[in-house]
Amino acid sequence: MFDTYAEIFEKRAHEYHHAMKASPRARDAEFNAVLDPIRDAGPGLVCDMPSGGGYLADYLWPGMDYVAVDPATDFFVEWPTPRRRLVAEITKVPLAVGSADYIVSLAGLHHEPSLERVFNEMHRLLRTGGRVVLADVAIDTPPAIFLNGFVAANCPLGHDGRFLDGDTRPALEAAGFTVVDDRLMEVPWSFDGLEEAGEFCRHLFGMTALTAGETAEAMGREIGFDMATGRPQLGWVLRRIVADAR
Ligand SMILES: C[S@@+](CC[C@H](N)C(=O)[O-])C[C@H]1O[C@@H](n2cnc3c(N)ncnc32)[C@H](O)[C@@H]1O
Repeated sequence: MFDTYAEIFEKRAHEYHHAMKASPRARDAEFNAVLDPIRDAGPGLVCDMPSGGGYLADYLWPGMDYVAVDPATDFFVEWPTPRRRLVAEITKVPLAVGSADYIVSLAGLHHEPSLERVFNEMHRLLRTGGRVVLADVAIDTPPAIFLNGFVAANCPLGHDGRFLDGDTRPALEAAGFTVVDDRLMEVPWSFDGLEEAGEFCRHLFGMTALTAGETAEAMGREIGFDMATGRPQLGWVLRRIVADAR
């Protein structure tokens, strides 16, 4: 039987979490990029959906409350006590209308079959004037080709991402949002060496039959490392959309 992505992540969560714990700074650029559009905004509740293991919370500052939403329960095994979490589909979040000031969604929308339903739910959750920041892989970019190609071929659970495309922005606008920024952003993954890069990626994407060397070689070939600083920077690129609730 076909597994939904939530079921696949239930199986993959431990590996993903292992990678994030072993290289906790590798994706700093991504987390900072999704928080930059609310950095100067007032205090409030940030809803992170889908959150994975709630990694975004480590990047928040005093005054920001946090709630994590994810359908895969295995992400919530190791959870610092004051941090709030909800096991739920991101189309059906058990929070009241207008209860969130900000919504951040990083690297999870490409698993979602109906963006229309997600955007409607985000609009329900946000107060009027509240802000959503989406960042995910964009169609036809090197990360998209790597995920649906190399990762799909080497992860036993496959990878069938539906990446952000020309329909994304109109869907967001139809759900009641005004888009204030929409761009491709370089958010390099940063490592101490190629061994760490390969190790991170093979765990993050569940390709544990491969060696770190084989994985790093594919990352370099398909996405590319910048070695100018002497520390490998993988050329990861995401599309970031910032929109305010009307
Ligand atoms: C690549 S992780 C991203 C997690 C986190 N935002 C991060 O950047 O590390 C994708 C997340 O999507 C969740 N997910 C899987 N299927 C989903 C679905 N149908 N709708 C929403 N989220 C889903 C998974 O449980 C997982 O936490």
